[in-house]
Amino acid sequence: PRINTIHDIYDKYTKGIPLTMCTAYDYITANWVQKSNCDMILVGDSLAMTTLGYDSTTDLSLQEFNYHVKSVCRTSGPALIIADMPFGSFEASIETGISNAIDMMKLSHKVTSLKLEVGLHSRDGYTIKLIKQICSRGIPVVGHIGLTPQKIHSLGGYKVQGNKKIQDAKELLETALMLQEAGCWALVLECVPHKIAKYITSKMSIPTIGIGAGSGTSGQVLVVSDILGMKDGYVPKFVKQYAQSQDHSITALCKFNSEVEERSFPNDEVHAFKIKDEVWKSFI
Ligand code: KIV
Ligand code: NA
Repeated sequence: PRINTIHDIYDKYTKGIPLTMCTAYDYITANWVQKSNCDMILVGDSLAMTTLGYDSTTDLSLQEFNYHVKSVCRTSGPALIIADMPFGSFEASIETGISNAIDMMKLSHKVTSLKLEVGLHSRDGYTIKLIKQICSRGIPVVGHIGLTPQKIHSLGGYKVQGNKKIQDAKELLETALMLQEAGCWALVLECVPHKIAKYITSKMSIPTIGIGAGSGTSGQVLVVSDILGMKDGYVPKFVKQYAQSQDHSITALCKFNSEVEERSFPNDEVHAFKIKDEVWKSFI
């Protein structure tokens, strides 16, 4: 099947049609997203906190992450695949950042782009510089600003960004423009006030993809386990759950347990294999 290119995404953006992006972490979830005709799959490092049960994305290793990127890339379908660069894979030096970026692109030809989290420009000139270097090597990059979970300790918690100080809101816009200048082809805006996100979007000539950023961005991204209601626990305000898969799944599993215990599963007429009569007769 035909796979969306960055060009296709731009076409849709230029026409003013909202872009859709959903995370996926393995072959099963990525297949669901592919079949939904979503524009883009993000193999997000939210993998750590959703599928792998870590308390923070900073606990995730590059090796663990790459294993999941490859499984998503084994799906076929239209979605353009973007992979996060996890914490620890690009901070040590420009050289290791570039070399890990190249290694991630080499995981599969289906990885079309990498995503990097970036702090406000006054604190994070490093990542902007790195992104420029990666882009100049022909590797498409999506920037990610606002709430950047890999920098959770310096941000002081999972909270809305750019909503309290004029300086922070101003710097969000400046950082967005600097990332566009550095070569990013799209920008994720996470947990910023919807008015700021809409304003930033209006000043950009690349698409913005929002999460917790309101309706004024060029597209929306959500975490697949949030959309599908795959686990319990805290659900952020910006999430809309379109299904309750956990409840549905546990109900099915309970039914399996009780049917086995009451011997109504398996049904030998339906779920089992026959032996030829003459073989059976000579056997007994
Ligand atoms: O890892 C992730 O899922 C993300 C999105 C929330 C943008 O970075
Ligand atoms: Na992420």
